[in-house]
Amino acid sequence: MLVHREVHRLRDALAPSRREGCAISFVPTMGYLHDGHAALIRRAAQLGRRVVVSVFVNPLQFGPNEDYERYPRDEERDSRVAREAGATDLWFPDAADLTPPGLMICVDPGPMARVLCGKSRPGHFRGVCTIVAKLFHIVQPNVAVFGWKDAQQLVIIRKMAADLDFPVRVEALETVREPDGLAMSSRNTYLSADERQRAVWLSRALFEVRDMAESGREWRCRVLEKHAAALITQRGLARLDYVRVVSLDDLQPLRTVAPGKTLVAAAAWFGRTRLIDNVRL
Ligand code: PAJ
Repeated sequence: MLVHREVHRLRDALAPSRREGCAISFVPTMGYLHDGHAALIRRAAQLGRRVVVSVFVNPLQFGPNEDYERYPRDEERDSRVAREAGATDLWFPDAADLTPPGLMICVDPGPMARVLCGKSRPGHFRGVCTIVAKLFHIVQPNVAVFGWKDAQQLVIIRKMAADLDFPVRVEALETVREPDGLAMSSRNTYLSADERQRAVWLSRALFEVRDMAESGREWRCRVLEKHAAALITQRGLARLDYVRVVSLDDLQPLRTVAPGKTLVAAAAWFGRTRLIDNVRL
């Protein structure tokens, strides 16, 4: 596995493969890689001969009072996980290269960035889209692999690729979970033992809603949202940000479940840690 830092070195390393028509697959990450990231890298290795993984804690997508400074960073761990999962190229971009002080032009992600996480994290998806657009331009992958764990991000990135004509296929992978159901996340390391135990209610609530929706009865989405909210706050003792049942097409609220086209997304605070999760119906 090659390790790169400067943009021009990565470009030079990929150029021969691109000339020879070898497929390049790409997994963008913020590092502190876990089994969820590893699953994306393994999938990317099935899809391309060159498997590029980027590790960059993107300052553009963090709000002023968010966890940019304390976000976990560990290059050794990232190198081991990426290599074992089949990465051929691991890229640690320099912030000075990707987000220089004069950066002025951004990608406007539109209305889908104003709901769900976008409501409590204004500017977040603009920062995500801007950095992913830059990464796509530098790596020029044939296929990029993203996780359903960040469903809103996935839907917005797919729309960006379509609307701005990025010649890249966006492949999606199921959320990888801990044995008790908690979605794997680099942010899980922030949780105290007590918070970790309570955090399982985020996924449990979503699974219960999925069971209800699949029971055959027609549920109003408001009822499903209320049921999940109660479990997350009363059993998980969390501070709820939101639970919403929305359309997978445009992330707008639904009145009743549209099978195959519905996303139930939630975000909640366990202590100082904000976790997100979702299921599709
Ligand atoms: P990060 O949170 O590191 O996630 C990188 C990729 O891994 C995303 O596509 C995310 O959905 C996926 N992922 C994270 N946890 C997962 C899990 N438990 N199961 C499956 N996939 C999982 O998402 C970002 O970084 C950034 O916003 C980024 C796209 C890199 C732009 O900065």
